[in-house]
Amino acid sequence: MAKKRTIAGNWKMHGSKAHLKEFVTFMANNSALLHEQVDTILCPPFPYLDAAATLFKDVKGLKLGAQDVSAHQEGAFTGQVAASMLSEVGCQYVIVGHSERRQFNHENDELVAAKFIAAKAAGLTPILCVGETKEQRMSELTNSVVIGQLQALLAHGVAVFDNAMIAYEPIWAIGTGLTATPEQAQAVHRLLRETLAEYDATLAKSMPILYGGSVKATNAKGLFAMPDIDGALVGGASLSATEFLEIANAAI
Ligand code: 13P
Repeated sequence: MAKKRTIAGNWKMHGSKAHLKEFVTFMANNSALLHEQVDTILCPPFPYLDAAATLFKDVKGLKLGAQDVSAHQEGAFTGQVAASMLSEVGCQYVIVGHSERRQFNHENDELVAAKFIAAKAAGLTPILCVGETKEQRMSELTNSVVIGQLQALLAHGVAVFDNAMIAYEPIWAIGTGLTATPEQAQAVHRLLRETLAEYDATLAKSMPILYGGSVKATNAKGLFAMPDIDGALVGGASLSATEFLEIANAAI
């Protein structure tokens, strides 16, 4: 059987309750178009998660994720959200280590690893984001950067990657309209899979590795044709339900 594909939408700090309702209504009306070989996940902002979980009950195949999680289980951490809380409201997935959090919230590899482990402990599937800046790519540091980000987790034992996902998101391709070419993305996805395979070949083979960075309906098919690209983490284009569905269908 063909490997399952995953298309995850990261709304970042966009949207509203009305937008969410409209999005889910469209998906519910078109759920017959959602292929069972493609998992679709939507990660709206925290305040909409609870409402989203209720709305998603009408849509077969649409799953809920959050955009971040605390590394702590509970306590005096104003503004943070625990993995158990995400799980309680119906989240199954959480993005960790997104480059925007690494950049604007100064999250380092150590904190990202702690968040990833906290998510797993609460039964969530973490989606670990890795990726290089434009300067790093130009200095031929792409491979060492993404492997370093992966190693920060591997240091905790390869078993942490059971029931997890990786998203390769080159920072220079995020929100810029510049997409990595399918070949550029494939090369990094292959490297990530080979690195995992050094620890556990079976796990490496089944590990979903998503690509993120200006994915749209028009470029999705070319990316999904690559053997190590298992889906996409979509930012801007995921705000449009029609576009999101088209991207999901390009994955079949
Ligand atoms: P864009 O699709 O808007 O480039 O964002 C990608 C991203 O950061 C998804 O997490």
